[in-house]
Amino acid sequence: MNTSAPFSVINHAPHSNEQDLLDALADDLTRACYHQEAVATLLGDASHEALGRDQIVPAKLVVERSLGAGGAGALPVLVGLWLLGMSFPDEALQMAFPRTGTAGLSRLQLIEPDGEGFRAAVDLRPHASDVVAQTWIASDLGAHQRPGPLRHDHVLGVGRASATLAQAVIRRPVERALELGTGSGIQLFYLLSHCRRIVATDISDRALAFARFNLLLNHRVLGVDPERLEERVGLRLGSLLEPVAGEEFDLVVSNPPFVITPRSASERPEDRYTYRDGGMPGDSLVESLVRDLPDVLAPGGTAQMLANWEIRTQAASDDGENHVDEMTPGEESPDAWEAGPRSWIREGTEAWFIQRDVTAPEVYAETWLRDASQGRDQEAHDAAYRDYLRDFADRDVAGIGFGMLWLRRPAQPDRLPFGLRFEEITHPLEQPVAPYLQAQIEATDSLLGRDRAELVLVVADDVTEERHQRPGAQHPGVILLRQGAGLRRTTLLGSAEAGFVSACDGEFSAGVLAQAVASLVEGDERETAANLLASVDRLVTQGFVTEVRNKG
Ligand SMILES: C[S@@+](CC[C@H](N)C(=O)[O-])C[C@H]1O[C@@H](n2cnc3c(N)ncnc32)[C@H](O)[C@@H]1O
Repeated sequence: MNTSAPFSVINHAPHSNEQDLLDALADDLTRACYHQEAVATLLGDASHEALGRDQIVPAKLVVERSLGAGGAGALPVLVGLWLLGMSFPDEALQMAFPRTGTAGLSRLQLIEPDGEGFRAAVDLRPHASDVVAQTWIASDLGAHQRPGPLRHDHVLGVGRASATLAQAVIRRPVERALELGTGSGIQLFYLLSHCRRIVATDISDRALAFARFNLLLNHRVLGVDPERLEERVGLRLGSLLEPVAGEEFDLVVSNPPFVITPRSASERPEDRYTYRDGGMPGDSLVESLVRDLPDVLAPGGTAQMLANWEIRTQAASDDGENHVDEMTPGEESPDAWEAGPRSWIREGTEAWFIQRDVTAPEVYAETWLRDASQGRDQEAHDAAYRDYLRDFADRDVAGIGFGMLWLRRPAQPDRLPFGLRFEEITHPLEQPVAPYLQAQIEATDSLLGRDRAELVLVVADDVTEERHQRPGAQHPGVILLRQGAGLRRTTLLGSAEAGFVSACDGEFSAGVLAQAVASLVEGDERETAANLLASVDRLVTQGFVTEVRNKG
């Protein structure tokens, strides 16, 4: 179902059918300087940081003081209303929103009566980044802004995961993109910067109403014609790939509802937290997307997603059998995490999985129980906690991996230059990491069919060498290459490799350098030179050295 304009009014979601009113609101927000920096300045570091931890008390004190003193303009009212769950009388709102007025805010379904005054019905906050200019994003109020547990069809604001995905998406210009599970539409703000047409899907009509509201509120900054929104963004209601069956996209992005949730025979779809739970057992929603996404990718098209995956105690042995008893929880082999994701990838698809974190089942359960404020009823909390642990135990899950993944349908089915890569990188990355991911994919692609000996290489600008040795030792025991930027990898080097890398200055070919270094070190010269050329793949694909193009 295509839900482009005219969009029906959805209860408990912002209303976006009156463009004049949306423009009036944008003007009021601009006039009040409702920007991230201004909010941070008003609140001060400590209160602003507390708000970042969902603690509103310090910020409330600042806003109350500021309102009491008078003269701070409209900003304290906006901050109190949209971020802190405070109630305001009609006159205060008329003053803070001179063009929209209290009646306009009510018609947009952004506020609701609260005793003598009004309080926010949604969260509305500024968003800006290196890609997106100053905008505002409406989403549902968080648990810290309203009483009781979250609604089950809660529409998420811009969270850490949203930012992680936005920073990882490679922003090359493309014709057609798909966002699966758009929520409040934050990824669309970014996709509009490099995709000509976007289809955004969600299983929730409330989420689509928020996304539409946000696009139209910010149409001037996003460069979208409100009269012809559907020429740039089509909003479609439906589950997973069903709304786009038979279509192809150059790019698919998704921060899907990947949270692993225990299933029960008595559960009802309306009881699920749709922002995080796709209603499938274990990690099978992610599995189904990894398997099926290539169906909607154009040749050369790519998909980028965040995901959770289960890490089992079962380790596949050399004979391919699973030996459950060989391992106990916590003893999974270092590469056990790859087993599930690897088995999901369809033949002919290229994939890069980066595991960023591993969580124990107990910690995972506690995190997601806390997330929806399910801890407020102790008995229900304990029962749900047991369900999580039983569910994980049933599948011998020792840990839950979190990470990001990239898939590509090759431009030519028989050429898979990237292949499959599984990496665990748990340290902080330089953000946005996307340009570095792109550079490493391109570097890997460029090696296909090339004679490594002919490559002319240079050490990447951000790479330094570290040598560590025992006091008094003649030679270093450990030689490390370290990247200062991007994925911030380190790699161990042998002494011949260290000599080879230090000689990579863009002058001579890798073959000449390997031969020269091999002649200087102990051991079989041919074998050493061959080993050095073999290490070129690791050094290039991980970005420690780069090729000098068009040399000579
Ligand atoms: C984690 S939120 C992501 C929101 C937003 N894209 C972001 O990056 O912050 C997941 C979204 O997927 C939607 N969703 C849940 N189940 C779905 C399904 N079966 N098909 C499509 N979307 C689904 C939810 O309603 C929610 O908006």
